[in-house]
Amino acid sequence: MSEATLPKNLTLDAALSEAEENFAARNVKSGENYNNSTLSMPGGNTRTVIHFSPFPLTFSKAEGATLTDADGNEYTDFMGEYTAALYGHSEPAITAAVEKALHQGIVRGGANDNEAAFSAAICDRFPAIDRVRFCNSGTEANLYALRTACSFTGRSDVIVMKAGYHGGVLYFGGECPLNVPMPFHPVTYNDTEEAVAKIRELGSKLAAVILEPMLGGGGCIPATAEFLQALRAETEKSGALLIFDEVMTSRLAPGGLHGQHNIKPDMVTLGKYVGGGMSFGAFGGREDIMARFDPRIAGHWPHAGTFNNNALTMAAGLAGLTQVYTADRVEAFNAIGDGLRAKMQDAIAGAGVPMCVTGLGSMAVFHFGTGPITTPGDAVAAPEALKAILHLDMIERGFYYARRGMIALCLPTTNEDTTRFASAFGDVLSNRASLIHQAVKG
Ligand SMILES: Cc1ncc(COP(=O)(O)O)c(C=O)c1O
Repeated sequence: MSEATLPKNLTLDAALSEAEENFAARNVKSGENYNNSTLSMPGGNTRTVIHFSPFPLTFSKAEGATLTDADGNEYTDFMGEYTAALYGHSEPAITAAVEKALHQGIVRGGANDNEAAFSAAICDRFPAIDRVRFCNSGTEANLYALRTACSFTGRSDVIVMKAGYHGGVLYFGGECPLNVPMPFHPVTYNDTEEAVAKIRELGSKLAAVILEPMLGGGGCIPATAEFLQALRAETEKSGALLIFDEVMTSRLAPGGLHGQHNIKPDMVTLGKYVGGGMSFGAFGGREDIMARFDPRIAGHWPHAGTFNNNALTMAAGLAGLTQVYTADRVEAFNAIGDGLRAKMQDAIAGAGVPMCVTGLGSMAVFHFGTGPITTPGDAVAAPEALKAILHLDMIERGFYYARRGMIALCLPTTNEDTTRFASAFGDVLSNRASLIHQAVKG
């Protein structure tokens, strides 16, 4: 159905059924692939976050910032693989580095010739990382950082943020039966008083406070400087470690967000784009803490992982950080994202709907309710059906983002792309304005 003929007075359920039927008709091959997948994977899925109804798209090709699905439909990629696809999908410097590494031979069972330079590039770039160790995912990086904090301090308890996400087994947005069994204490993001009180209450039991300096999956909500400074001061007093999860946020400033805030956490975790698009995680920080992993020292802590230094990741990550995502590029890229958020906010105002956009630089989330949003509870909890309709409408217009409303730009994305996105977004919001008003009023 074309935009002009879209009925304006559908109920949420009817509008969703219609949008899903249109989506299924345009995506026959993705639908078939999905149905086949359900025969061997529960729900046809091996990664919860990429599932959406009626079925997720199968992407057969990706180039620059363009995704092509199995049916030949093209999308400008505003999801950016939840920040991991920062380099886009075919950055020549990364492709060349990976091809070279591939031809040198994989799984060599020893050190390779890129890991020293890659670790040095990371230590140079991120002020709080004196020494770093690699692993295979952000989840693993955070698990290592947390266990390091417990072992280093001889303490057990950890303060986390409500709605925080640090990996598949470290999820604090609701009940997560698969979380690792550690004594976690969730506090409200940006609520300095609550966090300081909890740090003091836990006293000598507290091993660490872990948080993202901008809550990423929890809604792209930036931390206030006051909140971060208070956490730094109080953890120092308590003897607990402050861990910044910069798996997503390290892309937002040349020295990561801790560099921008001029705060030195004791440990920092990295993941996603830093591996150049390959499987990657890293944890690092203060030299005296990381020295415990030095295998030359008696009683050192073991840190294993067959693929920790895998040749393809080391090559891709090094090329990305040193040849592509240089400090100048970090600034220019994030300015494009700042522009996008302003354009989206204009689109929202133009459509007259009660919504707002949060984020920093190249990351954004749109929320229901007019804000301000300084903590996850400030957003209006809109029905999933409404999020689904907007998502499917934008897919129909050739734009891909995460259904929950999250956007992460890819480097090849231009200001023209963000203008096109915001214009389509404005059309969708205008078409669906009555549904949005109904849903947000409750
Ligand atoms: C802030 C943050 N930490 C950790 C992770 C986990 O990283 P991975 O998916 O590589 O395990 C994610 C993934 O989305 C994340 O957003």
